[in-house]
Amino acid sequence: MKLTEEEKLELEKVYQAFLNDERILKMQSIPMHRGSNCYIHSFKVAKRAVRYAERSRKKDINFHAILLGAILHDYYLYDWRSDRSKKKKHGHNHPQIASENAFRDFNISKEVRKIIESHMWPINIKEYPDSKEARIVSICDKAVTIKEASTSKAYKEKSKAYYLSYISKLFK
Ligand SMILES: [Fe+2]
Ligand SMILES: [Fe+2]
Repeated sequence: MKLTEEEKLELEKVYQAFLNDERILKMQSIPMHRGSNCYIHSFKVAKRAVRYAERSRKKDINFHAILLGAILHDYYLYDWRSDRSKKKKHGHNHPQIASENAFRDFNISKEVRKIIESHMWPINIKEYPDSKEARIVSICDKAVTIKEASTSKAYKEKSKAYYLSYISKLFK
């Protein structure tokens, strides 16, 4: 679904506000997939999901919901690697925790909460992504995760500046 220049500007504004929000910046200290962090990961998913939706032939896509759902899908705010109590069930529990945190901090809609809660399907088999927006975020999260997991830690550390510049704008 094509976006007008005006719609793009509007989404870019929202994206920038999140990118510089101090609560969101906290995700930088949460490590992820071999040297990545939660902040970079989440904005990569957001960019990919919006691009994916732009290329989709489906009509009436809620880009705003995709953007928020993607940015906040891993807003669980703890390091499961250093917290043994959370380690075991992280894959299963973190979408619900992220959704609650996001609702508390950003008062997100039900639709966005559903996107966050179903992003780990089929690991959470009961949480099927039942909107096109939720399916897009779930697919793009998996694509970004696979790419991150298959890139070495050393490479990622070297390219941190590149990733930060890559996520610095939604459209470029
Ligand atoms: Fe996740
Ligand atoms: Fe993720």
